[in-house]
Amino acid sequence: MSARRGVTILGSTGSIGCNTVELIEARPDLYRVEALVANSRVDILADQARRLKPRLAVVADETAYSALKEALAGTGIEVAAGAAAVVDAAELPADWVMASIVGAAGLAPTLAAVRRGAVVGLANKECLVCAGQLMMAEVEKHGATLLPVDSEHSAIFQVFDFDQHDRIEKIILTASGGPFRTKSREFMADVTPEQAVAHPNWSMGAKISVDSASMFNKGLELIEAHHLFDMPEDKIDIVVHPQSVIHSLVSYVDGSVLAQLGSPDMRTPIAYALGWPKRIDAPVPRLDLAAIGTFTFEAPDEIRFPSLRLARAALRAGGSAAAVLNAANEMAVAAFLGRRIGFLDIAQVVERTLEGVEHCELGSIDDVLVQDQRARAFAAAIIDRQVR
Ligand SMILES: NC(=O)c1ccc[n+]([C@@H]2O[C@H](COP(=O)([O-])OP(=O)(O)OC[C@H]3O[C@@H](n4cnc5c(N)ncnc54)[C@H](OP(=O)(O)O)[C@@H]3O)[C@@H](O)[C@H]2O)c1
Repeated sequence: MSARRGVTILGSTGSIGCNTVELIEARPDLYRVEALVANSRVDILADQARRLKPRLAVVADETAYSALKEALAGTGIEVAAGAAAVVDAAELPADWVMASIVGAAGLAPTLAAVRRGAVVGLANKECLVCAGQLMMAEVEKHGATLLPVDSEHSAIFQVFDFDQHDRIEKIILTASGGPFRTKSREFMADVTPEQAVAHPNWSMGAKISVDSASMFNKGLELIEAHHLFDMPEDKIDIVVHPQSVIHSLVSYVDGSVLAQLGSPDMRTPIAYALGWPKRIDAPVPRLDLAAIGTFTFEAPDEIRFPSLRLARAALRAGGSAAAVLNAANEMAVAAFLGRRIGFLDIAQVVERTLEGVEHCELGSIDDVLVQDQRARAFAAAIIDRQVR
């Protein structure tokens, strides 16, 4: 048996995926790659596959199959395409799986990895937002391990005393505030996708960058934190910390507040999850506190950023509300990136979809998928009307 940890990367061509590939490539003594999965960016995927030599490379988009097949001809790497093949890749016996597909599209493969008891590095927060309760029950049932990769949740995980859960008063998620932290609603009404994806501290994929600008990202993280750490909504605070150095905090009954700090570089939380329970090197800029000089904090503004109010309401409502919020947000962000609606319309589309789609309890993953589709159809109709 190989002593090296077998790794599968779901979403290897994205921002998180490429950072994960970089860390794995630096330690061939520790890791070997089982499968790489992307949606359609064949050039990047084929290049990664030639370097890392996985057993399998998969594209979700079936029209990209022949290009991938051709690009990997003669390498001995198996090639597949389609949504079912993505799930098959997650089912291969890798010890460790990076779940870094963006959006609810990552739910089925992440669940497949959970159901075979894998250690899962979870970047794909939308999975927990739309199916948190069911997903956590599956984690428990199959003895899987979820290691948060979101920097905030990784920070909390590192300072959270799981043996004294009742001694924790609250968790505090930090937020950078995004590119429009100090901007008025009038300003935000006219911003372009280019302005919205230009995050001041982090380099990320387009969807999460827009989510950071609207602060829906923090709303999604609130719901994610609720499920990961079993904390009620009223025990999760959000504080804006524009320097993005304190990644989150845990407050205990004795008044102690523990935090994890680091440069705003995703390779730190990815390395933490990859190496867990040990630590591995990450080539990130080291913190120079004297050079930073000052940390600042502000309360989030729920008037300028209604996403936070909507996420809290969805979490309190329970049932299908968070799945509807997530699906509507995915649709609205895609429409904004496609220049079909304005930036402020994103929260409006989400709010109206939450009001319009009938609330229900979620008894199974199929229920989640049905509700996700309903919300997408409802949001699409609102977007169409907005555009006309
Ligand atoms: N980026 C960050 O710093 C960061 C931080 C914390 C959490 N996260 C979370 O991590 C996840 C990924 O974010 P990202 O910024 O890395 O996104 P990204 O750069 O847009 O990458 C998304 C990845 O998912 C793949 N993908 C998209 N749809 C797919 C489908 N239907 N089936 C299979 N693969 C699919 C993409 O493939 P193609 O390249 O072929 O399109 C790409 O590999 C998100 O949930 C995000 O919220 C990201």
